[in-house]
Amino acid sequence: MITEESVLEVLKQVAYPGFSRDIVSFGLVRECRVENSDIHVRLEVTSGDAKIPGQIKKSAEHALRVMDGVGDVHVSIVVSKKEAPKSNAASSLPEQSEMEGVKHIVAVASGKGGVGKSTFVSNLACAINALLHEKGLGEGKVGIMDCDIYGPSIPLMMGIGGRPEIEDNMIYPMLGHGVKVMSMGFLVDEGSPIIWRGPMVMKAIQQFTHQVKWGELEFMLIDLPPGTGDAQISLTQTLRLDGALIVTTPQAAAYTVARRGAGLFDKVEVPLLGVAENMSYLELPVTGEKHYLFGQDGGKHIAEDLGTELLGQIPLEQDLREGGDRGIPQVIANPESSASQAFRHIASKLIEQVEKS
Ligand SMILES: Nc1ncnc2c1ncn2[C@@H]1O[C@H](COP(=O)(O)OP(=O)(O)OP(=O)(O)O)[C@@H](O)[C@H]1O
Ligand SMILES: [Mg+2]
Repeated sequence: MITEESVLEVLKQVAYPGFSRDIVSFGLVRECRVENSDIHVRLEVTSGDAKIPGQIKKSAEHALRVMDGVGDVHVSIVVSKKEAPKSNAASSLPEQSEMEGVKHIVAVASGKGGVGKSTFVSNLACAINALLHEKGLGEGKVGIMDCDIYGPSIPLMMGIGGRPEIEDNMIYPMLGHGVKVMSMGFLVDEGSPIIWRGPMVMKAIQQFTHQVKWGELEFMLIDLPPGTGDAQISLTQTLRLDGALIVTTPQAAAYTVARRGAGLFDKVEVPLLGVAENMSYLELPVTGEKHYLFGQDGGKHIAEDLGTELLGQIPLEQDLREGGDRGIPQVIANPESSASQAFRHIASKLIEQVEKS
């Protein structure tokens, strides 16, 4: 007998073109209904590539038609265009949400893990917060959405513990160094493993988008797990991003993978705002001599490759790492360090960029 579950199981065999992941874990299925043995499936996709929806529809139909005892198969697919004006009341197409009250949303991604994304996000958020404050825009106008559902490290790095307040089914973000933060780390017990499948990652990201009282924000930074998995694709399906920043370290191993990470955003037409190179060099305390432990110019090469800008280079600093572990980002603990200056430089370039676009 054909059931909704068995239909979903079959749809899980249908890969998103160009990816090994399936359309169910990418969260494209908006409706799945079985009447007698007729199947009705509604999919929603956000893609600038006009060929993608047709390919997905065809593959889905093909997979469903060979199910045992199947009747008619109806697969419809809606394309939610990023350009669709928000006020277009005639359009009933579901579209990615523009978070109300949040002006700019920027995702921070990398290909490889451990390149310092979360460190980067926490410091950059504090640097942007300080710059906005200087501009007279007030505090608390920067948020971090920690979409590293499996290994959230933002709470630790921002020095935030405890549970968020919940009222009327809405979660209040927690505050660290004047920055609003939402993270799975606030909702699960420390040390317990988080084993989540694709659709649950999508759900978590949707919840962080719609069920968190972010209030008015100038900037929202999004920390992502490394790679090109569920979180990245769910994010681009859920939220309208201003763009993505790529963090890399200088060595070839990191920047080759970083290119793949950037490729994902390109596929879904999220503009690349630039590359930041982390762990660029170690500066000797007495002489100021720079040692390029991981090689030189990796960030520059990948930025050139991707046709974007190298926004800055952040040196290795021992107290930056220690600050991360203590919950005090370097730009706050030691604002005059070379890394802190690099973060402020990147913050002002980023503000300039998104305001221009
Ligand atoms: N510029 C730096 N100088 C010194 N230590 C750094 C620097 N950048 C990051 N680190 C340290 O490197 C480690 C990894 O950084 P972080 O957790 O930010 O990486 P990540 O890319 O978010 O990792 P993951 O892929 O696991 O999410 C941390 O201990 C952090 O303190
Ligand atoms: Mg991280």
